[in-house]
Amino acid sequence: KMRSAPNTIASCKNCGEKIKQALEIYSETWTKQDFNYEKFRLDLRVNVNGFDEAIITQTNTAVGSRLVYDGERKRILNVTQQIYDLFPKGHPFSNKRWDTCAVIGNGGIVANSSCGKMINSADFVIRCNLPPLSDGYEKDVGTKTNLVTANPTILFKKFESLVGRRRPLMEKLSSYGNSMLLLPAFSFGMNTAVCMRTLYTIQDFESAIHPVFINPEYLIKLSKFWHTHGLKEARLSTGVMMTSLALELCDDVHLYGFWPFGIHPFSFKNLTNHYYDDMKPNTNFHSMPVEFSILLQLHRNGVLRLHLGDCQ
Ligand code: CTP
Repeated sequence: KMRSAPNTIASCKNCGEKIKQALEIYSETWTKQDFNYEKFRLDLRVNVNGFDEAIITQTNTAVGSRLVYDGERKRILNVTQQIYDLFPKGHPFSNKRWDTCAVIGNGGIVANSSCGKMINSADFVIRCNLPPLSDGYEKDVGTKTNLVTANPTILFKKFESLVGRRRPLMEKLSSYGNSMLLLPAFSFGMNTAVCMRTLYTIQDFESAIHPVFINPEYLIKLSKFWHTHGLKEARLSTGVMMTSLALELCDDVHLYGFWPFGIHPFSFKNLTNHYYDDMKPNTNFHSMPVEFSILLQLHRNGVLRLHLGDCQ
């Protein structure tokens, strides 16, 4: 049955086989392997240092410094006083480490999982790409948010690039309370103006959310790091970026909503790509099945814990 699984999400060869392998690993009892975890965290700390550098601050980026765009290496940003003034002053994560982190991918697998309570009980909750948290989704994905990323595609398409009405974005952001909003302003040239407008809008409207810019230097180091760990795709997905950050910030990292295949591993029902819609991923950029196999290895090695089943 699994071999003929319809693969409506990712274009991957032998998906039935991959799902079978994933289930074999997932059915083993999970225990945290402290040694493997500490080793992996140290590796991240030494080579990428997201703890101090994932977010641009006035502490890690001086006036006059030059930032290379991670998605367009020939493009450089000169940090002027005006841009510098937009950066937060202190340490990106107030020098804190958390016990439990939940990273929520947007995969359809989390729909009807009843994992909302468990997600809300984590100390630090990270979400990707401004996902919906109301209209019934809260029982599956929770509502607590400490950090949420915004992708420019959504800002362009759903919020008129912030050149029209700005209230819809403010209403959307109110669902994330006083969390941090991570903007990829310096990944591609086309992102900069829309991310700046988002930050200005938030400040002008005195929204509770804290807009910050992801550091392109961090993303360059992170993609080199994953390259040496077997991920050779063009660009890391937001989910992998956030998982990497969580591994530096938290002792226990739990992942929900990560499953790139079009069929549910236990019910065998067809899945939509997202828990809230069926927008297809951009396969030119990412290879989610390859990323998933790496996350699965980390799960097997007790470095992090993937959640594929229901929480009740
Ligand atoms: N994800 C997953 N399985 C899916 C859908 C998403 O594992 N079926 C994970 C991916 O790591 C992804 C993250 O959840 O990065 C957020 O999902 P989404 O908003 O769909 O990201 P994309 O728009 O595909 O792309 P990007 O990663 O560039 O933001």
